[in-house]
Amino acid sequence: MKKTVKIEKLGGEGVGIAHIDGKATFVPYSVPGDELLVQIVHETNSYIKAEIAEIIKPSRVRIEPVCEYFGNCGGCSHQNIKYETQLQFKQELLSEIFRDFVKDGVKIEDITPSPEQFGYRNKMQMQCTASRGGKIGAGFYKIKSHDIVEINNCPLHSDPINKLVKSTVSTLNQFKILPYSEKMKKGTLRHIVIRESKRYSEMMMTFVSNHATLLNQNKISKALFSKNKNLKGLFLFHNPHDTNVIFEDSEGIKLNDNRSPLKKIFGSDYITDSINGVNFSISPLSFFQINTLQAMNMAKFIEENTGFENKKTSLIDVYSGIGTLSLGLCHKFENILAIELVSQACALARHNAIMAKVKNYSIRRGDAAELITSALNSFKGSGSFTDKYRSVILDPPRAGIDDDMKDFLCEVRIPEIIYVSCNPHTQQRDVSRLCAKGGYKVVKIAPFDMFPQTFHIENIIKLVQK
Ligand SMILES: C[S@@+](CC[C@H](N)C(=O)[O-])C[C@H]1O[C@@H](n2cnc3c(N)ncnc32)[C@H](O)[C@@H]1O
Repeated sequence: MKKTVKIEKLGGEGVGIAHIDGKATFVPYSVPGDELLVQIVHETNSYIKAEIAEIIKPSRVRIEPVCEYFGNCGGCSHQNIKYETQLQFKQELLSEIFRDFVKDGVKIEDITPSPEQFGYRNKMQMQCTASRGGKIGAGFYKIKSHDIVEINNCPLHSDPINKLVKSTVSTLNQFKILPYSEKMKKGTLRHIVIRESKRYSEMMMTFVSNHATLLNQNKISKALFSKNKNLKGLFLFHNPHDTNVIFEDSEGIKLNDNRSPLKKIFGSDYITDSINGVNFSISPLSFFQINTLQAMNMAKFIEENTGFENKKTSLIDVYSGIGTLSLGLCHKFENILAIELVSQACALARHNAIMAKVKNYSIRRGDAAELITSALNSFKGSGSFTDKYRSVILDPPRAGIDDDMKDFLCEVRIPEIIYVSCNPHTQQRDVSRLCAKGGYKVVKIAPFDMFPQTFHIENIIKLVQK
């Protein structure tokens, strides 16, 4: 059945919302202000899902998307919206999510635009698929689906990354490597993951394979290194599991350990990028902020908003990755303790600290809540734990911080928290609890557009003890 609707606003996942007979109707790839003829594809008692059948009158903020796959590929949701309006929508969404804090007088700062609107992603994760003529192809998932859209070029990634993908797919076909099929649970290559250093233009690539080795992998490697001068390292990650997690069970693993699913095929163990003058070595499995130039803006913000004037105190960086947000802060703090779960990330954080010639940075590997609790229990300094550690950076995965971590923060009450998040919904939940139970108040909310053309938002909240 078809209906005419006017799109009122965007929902949390960037999907346009209208109403049909009072029922919320979700229309992917629509823009607020669009007058549309939509095809209803699914209806329940409480909502409707519909697809655009015809644009009757486009919204005045609708633009032509740059990418030929937009609307089919699930990677972008906002490419058909003017960039300034994307920022405005994100700002409005945050005002809604954090309305209780806004009501209490906290101002949400203007979102910091991304220095680059396209070509900003330093990591490309592609799914392998069967292409025409039984060949291997690579692409991205369609929106909310495991069907793959094969793509030739993605404008969110740089030209060198796109060139490397083309050259890789053609080399893999030359050597008759077959894609893995999620449905049939058969085949070889599941994903291709490429990382790029913006500062030094280096790239590394990981083949995620259903098998422990690729047939002719050394010949494939030779062909790829001779065609791509910026390629510095090639790896194979063995993932035979029934999962769509790319690097399944990768937390404790070390590179080239006999039992490790990650093996280097050829080249360097890592590539190096730089954030505000500090070099960071990055390996296939360690987290690195996706938008390097915007990460620099965030790091500057954190530097300006942590620590206490006239007093050198210490900092704990929880969920620290390879040290991106805290290694540049060693001059400001007496000691920095970094806590991170992934073993390779910890190894690189240590390496990065040595390269940065800092002596007051230490790293512990393990679960955030467990290790911060053991740091408290084994604390031996003069004065109390919170006299020394007066600041904490939290930058958890999308799910936010767990209950143990929240309980710790509510009980111990470290005076200053900088909470960095790529999911404002879980961040709001966590921050509300810290305010209600831990004696904190929000003093700053500062969003950063880390992911242009998509609905994702990066947000930093500063909390202090009341
Ligand atoms: C969003 S990333 C942030 C990394 C780092 N702050 C940065 O900016 O690059 C989250 C990090 O938390 C780590 N992590 C996930 N769960 C954890 C846990 N339970 N304990 C400690 N670290 C964890 C991940 O491995 C990842 O490096």
